[in-house]
Amino acid sequence: MLSSEAVKIGLMGCGTVGSGVIKVILENGEYIAQRLGRPLVIKRVLELDPTKVTALGLAESVVTNDFNDIQTDPEIDIVVELMGGIEPARTFVLGALRAGKNVVTANKDLIALHGREILETAQEMGRDFYFEASVGGGIPIIIPLKQSLAANKIQVVMGIVNGTTNYILTKMAREGRTYAEVLQEAKSLGYAESDPTSDVEGYDAARKIAILASIAFNTRVTFPDVYVEGITRISTLDLEYGKELGYALKLLAIAKEEAGEIDVRVHPAFIPVNHPLASVNDVFNAIFIRGDFVGDVMHYGRGAGQRPTASAVVGDIMEVARNMQSGSSGRISCTCFEQKRIKPINEIESRYYIRLMLKDRPGVLASIAGVFGNQEVSLASVIQKRTEGDFAELVFVTHRVKEGSLQDALKIIGGMSIVGAINNVIRVEGEAE
Ligand code: NDP
Ligand code: HSE
Repeated sequence: MLSSEAVKIGLMGCGTVGSGVIKVILENGEYIAQRLGRPLVIKRVLELDPTKVTALGLAESVVTNDFNDIQTDPEIDIVVELMGGIEPARTFVLGALRAGKNVVTANKDLIALHGREILETAQEMGRDFYFEASVGGGIPIIIPLKQSLAANKIQVVMGIVNGTTNYILTKMAREGRTYAEVLQEAKSLGYAESDPTSDVEGYDAARKIAILASIAFNTRVTFPDVYVEGITRISTLDLEYGKELGYALKLLAIAKEEAGEIDVRVHPAFIPVNHPLASVNDVFNAIFIRGDFVGDVMHYGRGAGQRPTASAVVGDIMEVARNMQSGSSGRISCTCFEQKRIKPINEIESRYYIRLMLKDRPGVLASIAGVFGNQEVSLASVIQKRTEGDFAELVFVTHRVKEGSLQDALKIIGGMSIVGAINNVIRVEGEAE
């Protein structure tokens, strides 16, 4: 039965996602009210520029530039933080929870650093703190991990969680264009930020995998715990040679639990072309999960953008409203009840693709193979590619080895006079030996 008593929302930030949230609530308002049994109403919007809000059809009186107008309004049930960044978002989110409000956010920067403090505050106050849109935009992943997959011991979470870098790598691979050219295009299409550092250096993906790893492995993983490499060193040659070897190149966010220890990292990786993540292209995201009972599951969709992200935010608002109605707010609390060691990168094991420029003369290959052998790096294949002056380019692919052994070998190789350059080293994931 439809109640006329509305669920009142205080929205903070009316940018890309905030304005999307207003649009969903206005356009689908009647439908949402039928599903929820009560309408959603945006009571206040914290925004410095009122025209952003009035342009969407809300009255100017709704707009405020003072957080207190939201925090102290007894009618506001749910505060939705879509300003981004750490401060003042952290202070406002904590203030809203302490004032007895439920909170919804899409802010991965905030959760990946201060998730524990915020979740503990929500728990203390018996309030909800939902953040589905913080990872994978419109793709349902946080609630499925916390609820539908909760009975499983999760072994692996691996995904493509940054749309901008996936777009760049897809275009470079398909069209043979350079990194710089495609980055420029991604900016002009509005995918990459005007300062795309956090996307291309892998920081955005690192924040997202920190959030997923914390939930999947019941332990607190923060942004600084994640080993990160971005895509800025990738060249069209790597993509071309990878294709010849049967690989696609992706910026992967990986979290694995082995023997009670966590391996959590973001870096470019080759994966076999028949791997489910290899066909995730353009700005799409996908997250692959392996659980001990469910087996393999993959979530796929639009990982960013106004409409998909707003879809996830409003889904959270509706779930919080249902909890309020049933008197069960604060039901889903922090699940980080264990402490697990995070492995340093030199302890992980992987296969590696190594692209080297070597003097083009007899005996050189044997010397390099000898160094790898002495450091216990076993080679699976070697291919000679182009030549440049006195140098030939060689691509080595190793068997599964310890990262530390590989780095030791590369340190020695980098100092040899027969070596022109170590052009690139890329991990190979997702295939059996
Ligand atoms: P925008 O920069 O487009 O929007 C942020 C809005 O908040 C702007 O209108 C900004 O105003 C306003 N704002 C910032 N600080 C204040 C403040 N102190 N007081 C009042 N208003 C303020 O960001 P997005 O909408 O893209 O992102 C919002 C959140 O959603 C971020 O946490 C982001 O990481 C997350 N997210 C975004 C996705 C996307 O596709 N865009 C996808 C998934 C998550 P002004 O411009 O005047 O500073
Ligand atoms: N910049 C992010 C991306 C979107 O390219 O995926 C926000 O999560």
